[in-house]
Amino acid sequence: MSGRRKFVTGNWKMHGLGGSLSEIASIAASAAALDDVDVALCLPATLIARAINAAPSLMIGAQDCHQERNGPHTGCISAAMLAEIGAMLTIVGHSERRQDQQESDADIKAKAEAARDAGLSVILCCGESEVEHDAGQAVARVTAQIAASMPGGAAADWLTIAYEPIWAIGTGKVPGMDDVAEMHGAIRTKLRELIGKEADAIRILYGGSMNGGNAAQLLAIPDVDGGLVGGASLSAEKFVPIIEAAAKA
Ligand code: PGA
Repeated sequence: MSGRRKFVTGNWKMHGLGGSLSEIASIAASAAALDDVDVALCLPATLIARAINAAPSLMIGAQDCHQERNGPHTGCISAAMLAEIGAMLTIVGHSERRQDQQESDADIKAKAEAARDAGLSVILCCGESEVEHDAGQAVARVTAQIAASMPGGAAADWLTIAYEPIWAIGTGKVPGMDDVAEMHGAIRTKLRELIGKEADAIRILYGGSMNGGNAAQLLAIPDVDGGLVGGASLSAEKFVPIIEAAAKA
């Protein structure tokens, strides 16, 4: 046993209106019945406060925050604003933001530190593109991202890493189990190099087309400490089998 409790987080991306609150409540009810897994949903900012109201037992988080505390940044939301409405965590560095908003490793490090300062937990994402994967550069790419975006004061009580191969996100494609094992092992080794012993307590999630059919196998890999789940987290019907698999892993 690693001593690390499994952690499954849904990432709703740009999905969900008020009508989804009953789905969130139903996910929360199933999660509350399971002892051996931590469950969170990272929601659109507009749903966070209402979801906390509808599902007070569930950890609710955001999908991004700005690196500054406040300032002239139209349309952006600071970590303190998220914390104020009750968010407990935020994702930073998701590949969709790295791509769509041209976020750099330095931006992601700054966002993670801003979230930490506001009292939020952080899920820091990394992952290689299909071209990098096919060229055999996945481990080099991902460990370089981690080195360049690792926030100061990294500790398991607030920081989680999520490995998400970009080519596996939303595509139904999942890497071979040996590849996942190699990557998660390489991430653990890089973390040890960067932060020493604390690395062994930090959870490393796998993300990219995780579903009820493949979760048990992925979660049995030694350094896979949970999942970051997109599409399959949008309904209790698809998400609950994943959290149940994590509770048993
Ligand atoms: P997916 O997304 O589960 O739909 O592949 C995962 C993610 O982007 O976090």
